Amino acid sequence: MENQGRTLQPSESSLRATSSRIEGSAMQQTGSWLNRASSVRSSVFTHSSKGEDDEEDLKWAALEKLPTFARVRKGILKGNEGEPLEVDVEALGNVERKMLMDQLIRATNDDNEKFLRKMKNRLDTVGIEMPTIEVRYQDLQIHAEAYVGGRALPSIANFFLNKLEEFLSCLHIVPSRKRPITILDNVSGIIKPGRLTLLLGPPGSGKTTLLLALAGKLASDLKVSGEITYNGHRMNEFVPERTSAYISQHDTHIAEMTVRETLTFSAKCQGVGTRYDMLMELLRREKDANLRPDPEIDLFMKALSLKGRENVITDYILKILGLDICADTLVGNEMLRGISGGQKKRLTTAEMIVGPSRALFMDEISTGLDSSTTFQIVSSIQQANHILGGTTVIALLQPAPETYELFDDIILLSEGQIVYQGPREHVLEFFESMGFKCPERKGVADFLQEVTSRKDQQQTESMHGAINSF
Ligand SMILES: Nc1ncnc2c1ncn2[C@@H]1O[C@H](COP(=O)(O)OP(=O)(O)O)[C@@H](O)[C@H]1O
Ligand SMILES: [Mg+2]
Repeated sequence: MENQGRTLQPSESSLRATSSRIEGSAMQQTGSWLNRASSVRSSVFTHSSKGEDDEEDLKWAALEKLPTFARVRKGILKGNEGEPLEVDVEALGNVERKMLMDQLIRATNDDNEKFLRKMKNRLDTVGIEMPTIEVRYQDLQIHAEAYVGGRALPSIANFFLNKLEEFLSCLHIVPSRKRPITILDNVSGIIKPGRLTLLLGPPGSGKTTLLLALAGKLASDLKVSGEITYNGHRMNEFVPERTSAYISQHDTHIAEMTVRETLTFSAKCQGVGTRYDMLMELLRREKDANLRPDPEIDLFMKALSLKGRENVITDYILKILGLDICADTLVGNEMLRGISGGQKKRLTTAEMIVGPSRALFMDEISTGLDSSTTFQIVSSIQQANHILGGTTVIALLQPAPETYELFDDIILLSEGQIVYQGPREHVLEFFESMGFKCPERKGVADFLQEVTSRKDQQQTESMHGAINSF
């Protein structure tokens, strides 16, 4: 809470500064709306010629007179020659969408960061905070009871035998042959918003189970004890499916749909969440303070918040994840040739981040991707996470050092228990104090993976032994 209070102060003071600037200029220039608007504009837009500015001022002034409900559906887009065009957000055509995307993100990751910062500044200026989620889990224990060996096979005889045995063991006549398996053993922790968390652990350590549990999507046959809360609310007090998104390690898509169709469908299913209400409030406050936003950002945010305008967010996500080159290709499967494996993996991520969820749990999104693509994806998620304050946990197998450096916190799992949870900077210190030193020229992520696996420890020891005996 203290932190939030501190971050608000500069935005409040900048609001005051802007409004006093507006008042001052209005007094000097004996207050026609045109003069007043152009004084605000001069602080926001610096490089466009005078004639276009006047035209833009007029268009803005006309927009500002509309009631909020109508204003949310209209925006201004710069045409090819820089001329301002008034556009209806609900009827954005393909050409207009492409123009908007080109203006927002020209080529690189830096553009995306700048764009996100502008969006955040716009919200900060009028004192609107993005909602954040803090996820806590305490004494989380997850057990499974499963048949092992031949009895686990789904044959007809086994089915009847298992049902009969379940019934008899309920009556305490025969003992159950189910073998209890502990998947997560009494784990506790906090996942902070605005920090990117990396979940590391060898295969079988319980990463998928922990992510599913945090996203509220565990299978019902598992025995769960302990407590998971989002901002202090238990899972049964709200709808976790609308708040969090779990990104699976498997790619399951409809083969006959194109990439763009898949994304649009996903965006339509997930809706716009609270974005619409937030935008209405934002427009109201901006009107009161007589502030004028960047036209492209304004148009983008309007398109993001309106139902039925999923095309714009789809275009944005396609561009961010580098899927725009295969946007109209079929997804495909074993029988139907479609996009490549790496593109499928990116599509799985895109499908979930296109929605309004503020808590993302991503499971091995990098399997089958090259390290530079993984870096790009994680880095765009990191930017959104840091700037807009989302809650994100990403499980990765063998992240490259530059990808590893993007994370703020590490959770290290081993055999269902947490070995380390905390800031990335302190992880080596911690293991050194335990007597495990990371060898030079070894990636930290690889070292962490090895130090928690018994087999690897034995291998390293025998290797050191061999080296020493030379
Ligand atoms: N529903 C289940 N029934 C039985 N065993 C399970 C179930 N879910 C997970 N497990 C077991 O729990 C362990 C951890 O699984 P998982 O969470 O998928 O690990 P990871 O994602 O780290 O590879 C594995 O040994 C797996 O076999
Ligand atoms: Mg897994």
